[in-house]
Amino acid sequence: MGDPVQVSQSRVEMTQLVLPEHTNALGTIFGGQVAAWIDICAAIAAQRFCRRQVVTVSIDSLRFLNPIQRGHIAIFQATVNAAWGTSMEVGVRVEGEDPMTGDRTHTASAYCTFVALDANGRPTGVPAAIAETAEEQRRKEHAELRRAERLSRGSPARGSTSREDQARRAR
Ligand SMILES: CC(C)(COP(=O)(O)OP(=O)(O)OC[C@H]1O[C@@H](n2cnc3c(N)ncnc32)[C@H](O)[C@@H]1OP(=O)(O)O)[C@@H](O)C(=O)NCCC(=O)NCCS
Repeated sequence: MGDPVQVSQSRVEMTQLVLPEHTNALGTIFGGQVAAWIDICAAIAAQRFCRRQVVTVSIDSLRFLNPIQRGHIAIFQATVNAAWGTSMEVGVRVEGEDPMTGDRTHTASAYCTFVALDANGRPTGVPAAIAETAEEQRRKEHAELRRAERLSRGSPARGSTSREDQARRAR
């Protein structure tokens, strides 16, 4: 598990030029491409935080607020918000930038949960997260609320949570 780690150590900024192969028929960025880049950027943040292999457990609902045009720049900023036993929540903010003006628009935000794995592919402990600034502390507190909500919805990571399955597992 190791010593506690400052959440600022996990920070990632990833920049991509939106090329024709990243766009839909309207010439704006394809949502699936944004989701893939969010996952990659967030995974790097999680790895920087725990220095282990990680897998994505979930990406909370993703809503696209504004498109990014072909030829514009997509910017992904990710940081670990909070860490628990073996899992971490990473927040990702996506912005589009017009390369001619520098104007930036908020495209999407996402919260991704990763689990650290040991050499046998089993969940393994992650360091405790140190939030130093008021903003980091706020994100950590909000992450606790989202985790409670996620876990209350049941865990796809643990398979079906139907009563039949729970009973079968308890046998
Ligand atoms: C991630 C995986 C290893 C977890 O296995 P598991 O047997 O469910 O492990 P556990 O029950 O010990 O849970 C591990 C952690 O996940 C968390 N977790 C489980 N379900 C979750 C959910 N729906 N949302 C958020 N966290 C969740 C648990 O709380 C636990 O974290 P904690 O130790 O910090 O409390 C396993 O589900 C897996 O391999 N999933 C596929 C991952 C993958 O391939 N991702 C790529 C994209 S498909």
